[in-house]
Amino acid sequence: MAAGPAPPDLARWRADTPGCERRIHLNNAGAALAPRVVRDAIDRHLDLESELGGYEAAEAEADALGRAADDVARLLGAARRNVAFTQNATTAFAQALGAFDFARGDLILTSRADYASNQIMYLSLQQRLGVEIVRAPDLPEGGVDPDALGGLMRRRRPTLVALTWVPTNSGLVQDVAAVGRICRSAEVPYLVDACQAVGQMPVDVAAIGCDYLAAAARKFLRGPRGIGFLYVADRVLAAGAFPLLVDMHGATWTDADRFDLTPDARRFESWEIPFALVVGVGAAVRYALDTVGIATARDRARNLAEYARKRLGSLPGARALDRGAERCAIVTVDPAGRPAEQLKLALRARGINTSAAGREDAVIDMDTKGAASALRFSPHYYNTVEEIDTAVAALGELLAGQ
Ligand SMILES: Cc1ncc(COP(=O)(O)O)c(C=O)c1O
Repeated sequence: MAAGPAPPDLARWRADTPGCERRIHLNNAGAALAPRVVRDAIDRHLDLESELGGYEAAEAEADALGRAADDVARLLGAARRNVAFTQNATTAFAQALGAFDFARGDLILTSRADYASNQIMYLSLQQRLGVEIVRAPDLPEGGVDPDALGGLMRRRRPTLVALTWVPTNSGLVQDVAAVGRICRSAEVPYLVDACQAVGQMPVDVAAIGCDYLAAAARKFLRGPRGIGFLYVADRVLAAGAFPLLVDMHGATWTDADRFDLTPDARRFESWEIPFALVVGVGAAVRYALDTVGIATARDRARNLAEYARKRLGSLPGARALDRGAERCAIVTVDPAGRPAEQLKLALRARGINTSAAGREDAVIDMDTKGAASALRFSPHYYNTVEEIDTAVAALGELLAGQ
């Protein structure tokens, strides 16, 4: 049941992460502890804003801000022109949805495991515009069945395929690349929610074949809260797509009844964005790519998660909930019918951060599993085997009523 030897860089990663001296942070799928360089980059920019003025600081740091977009592009295998900064993953996803002129009779093809906010947005489009929502069936082992989705695509010809790569409430990894190949061959637009994937696993938008990919900075990428980004493919830009409500940053008002679109993905941005957080994202990406390495982060986080999954699953009464052929660094258990929220707070009082999901976070998945709530442990590469052992022992004590 070993999680493998501690990597040689572990001490350095932890030294770069001041918070892990005092707490066991197993909530990286919520918001990871940011490495010191991220905080430093944000502080530097805020200092500059205090000193020069906010607009003047942005102009003085134009190169650094552009570099942050380059860094995000590098993370995704894209170019700066394909990157828009957004408030969070949900607004990135919503901006992409806003590029479609949905009308009655249109169809969005998605999965049973798509993220709750995305499901609500699909339902809102259904209620307001009469868009039909079809969820492709799952494979027996869990996760969307790409062949079944392909069959639906041929029969129903959707306006859009939208898929969450890693749903928030379990370790499931959906096969976004297989679905992408089907979308590309049928030339159906494809929107991917990569919120839990960025920083946790390599992302290559060309290999995925997506038109749009939405993500947040604060999760496995270890960037700040309050910022996300949207990848927009060249073919989408060339086709002239833009969000329904575009502003004076996404377009230029050229005449009383005319506007010209910004040529690149910034047409999906807002004029006002938090520049300090943008440089923070750049620092987080550079740390992930150049200091740690995404493949290193993935392998280490998955090993720790698999170790945690086995240990948690062996606690009396605790039921492991993660499904799918491929499972990532999100580990969920049904804690013997006890409310996960209560256990999360009890663990936090012992200095251990986890998170709790309720039925409303993933209605279809939770009902299928017959779970009222789930306790989620999401280790990252900077966590240790000892931290997992401590967390499992603490949960064991709580479940035993100690
Ligand atoms: C899979 C997934 N998609 C989207 C989101 C929403 O991200 P944000 O809160 O940045 O909008 C989350 C948040 O947990 C998530 O896990």
